[in-house]
Amino acid sequence: MQTFYQISDFLKQHKWRYIMGVIVLLVVDGLQLITPRIIGIVTDGLTEGTMTIKYIYMYAALIIVIACFIAVLRYAWRMLVMGAARDLEFWLRNKFFSHLETLSPNFYNNNKTGDLMAHATNDISSLRMTFGPGVIMMTDAIFIPATTITIMLFTTDIRLTLLALLPLPFIAILMGVFGKVIQKRHKDVQAAFSDLTDKVQENMSGIRVVKSFVQEEHEIDKFLKSNNSYIEKNMRLVKVFGFMFPLVAFIASLSFIITLGYGGSLVIRDEITLGQFTSFIAYLGLLTWPMMAIGQVINVLQRGTASMKRLNAIFDIQPDITDAAVVKDITQEELKPAIEFNNLSFTYNGAKHPALSNINLKIEEGKTLAILGRTGSGKTTLVNLILRMYNTQEGQLSIGGHDINTIPLKTLRESIGYVPQDNFLFSTTIKDNIAFSNIDMGMEKVVQATKFAHVYDNIMEFPLQFDTILGERGVTLSGGQKQRVSIARAIAKDPKILILDDSLSAVDTKTEEKILEGLKQVMKNRTSIIIAHRISTLKEADEIIVLDEGKIVEKGSHEELIVLHGLYNSIYQKQLLEEKLENEA
Ligand SMILES: Nc1ncnc2c1ncn2[C@@H]1O[C@H](COP(=O)(O)OP(=O)(O)OP(=O)(O)O)[C@@H](O)[C@H]1O
Ligand SMILES: [Mg+2]
Repeated sequence: MQTFYQISDFLKQHKWRYIMGVIVLLVVDGLQLITPRIIGIVTDGLTEGTMTIKYIYMYAALIIVIACFIAVLRYAWRMLVMGAARDLEFWLRNKFFSHLETLSPNFYNNNKTGDLMAHATNDISSLRMTFGPGVIMMTDAIFIPATTITIMLFTTDIRLTLLALLPLPFIAILMGVFGKVIQKRHKDVQAAFSDLTDKVQENMSGIRVVKSFVQEEHEIDKFLKSNNSYIEKNMRLVKVFGFMFPLVAFIASLSFIITLGYGGSLVIRDEITLGQFTSFIAYLGLLTWPMMAIGQVINVLQRGTASMKRLNAIFDIQPDITDAAVVKDITQEELKPAIEFNNLSFTYNGAKHPALSNINLKIEEGKTLAILGRTGSGKTTLVNLILRMYNTQEGQLSIGGHDINTIPLKTLRESIGYVPQDNFLFSTTIKDNIAFSNIDMGMEKVVQATKFAHVYDNIMEFPLQFDTILGERGVTLSGGQKQRVSIARAIAKDPKILILDDSLSAVDTKTEEKILEGLKQVMKNRTSIIIAHRISTLKEADEIIVLDEGKIVEKGSHEELIVLHGLYNSIYQKQLLEEKLENEA
């Protein structure tokens, strides 16, 4: 039970549902034992001639009443036990998701989304199997054979009972063995299916690439292969089932043959009555299912334990970025948007070279810093550290005079408006995307933000305007529109620090100028960091740094950097030339 500590809260809270469910199940199992007995009594009464039609009706009525009770109670245990198991699944899924939300980018750098999805679907559902059908199987596997066999022994004949039961353990063994094979093949089917859906999904989202490279035929071929493999795996599964059920039925029928032969001879020799004989056959019929359950229950428990262990491994990962013990009580209002890097170096987990080295930098409140640098020079890394997506060593990075590790995470992140380089937007309405920081945000603020980001006119052109849904089920925004919606989302947060990571690369220089003008108004008394590859984006900044291989190689205003005749100047000259050529063309 140690393994299941992650769900012990749930089990404790819902123990009465399980206890009631098992009690009801036991009552059903008990009631089932009555009917064979009645059949025996009626048969004996008929052979002895003591049975009147009135009694037959009475017994028939009794059987119907019992059947009705069983029906109602079966519904009850199903609702209790299976219902609890479904709730467990729901509860665990929520818990798992909540845990995933606490984990840092580092975790996601090391774990594939596909694997996490598999945990969330397969492992959680196999736990449901353990704490739903598993509980039922275990109860039936213990109670039904124990009671039924005792009754058989006491009401009929020891020799007959032992002989007739001989084949039944083979059903349990068979189910155990087949269960393992089924599990394995079922996994193959699932893997083949996910391969198939991956193919379809990639082809749908990459349809433009497929078409432009004229690879439709080839892709259809590849799909056919996947589809073939899927049906093949399915057939392998169908075959096991096709083999298993008849075999179980065959073994069960051996018991009946033994009963018929040996039991029949006992009746002829008058050692047991005809009534005992008929009850015995009915009791035997009750035993097939529990025998199957015995075989399955071990597999179900094993699978549940294995799944729980896999989930535990993820649950046990502590978020590596949390409020430290030394955290100060700083509110968002109190936090001054001044940033200071003090000889900071940073290396990603597992990386050979540092992504940033010896960064010394001071961004004063209300100022704008621009960062230029070749791809891979560490620009995104630098701003990720300000957002504390990764931990820095004490004393290397401070905000408003406080070491970043001592600022409450919530305060820190709520103070920053971040426009990520990949401009990720959610598949929901434009309005909800922009109001992401506060879903109760007034429409006025949303509209204002889009005006500053110069995307308002574009949005008004959509038939549904702010209610336009983005993403797969909605419209696809152009690269530049995405960037600007993403900027609006950051502005709407009303942040003290605004960070734009290459966020104007997809808009033309004219629009860029207007957005920068708008930002200037919004960012009065706030601090901004603008990352760009284009000099036009950053030349107005109070300070510009040039990063190269993780180091600051140049620092100063646009004018200062030009006269340095270094990397900045050479990029500037190249861009000027490009612009000139473009204008001439
Ligand atoms: N999660 C990560 N794990 C390991 N290395 C990383 C990770 N993210 C980035 N890097 C490496 O760190 C270096 C700096 O990357 P970064 O993303 O900061 O560059 P960048 O200047 O933003 O580049 P670009 O202009 O292309 O956006 C690169 O060499 C990159 O390969
Ligand atoms: Mg980057």
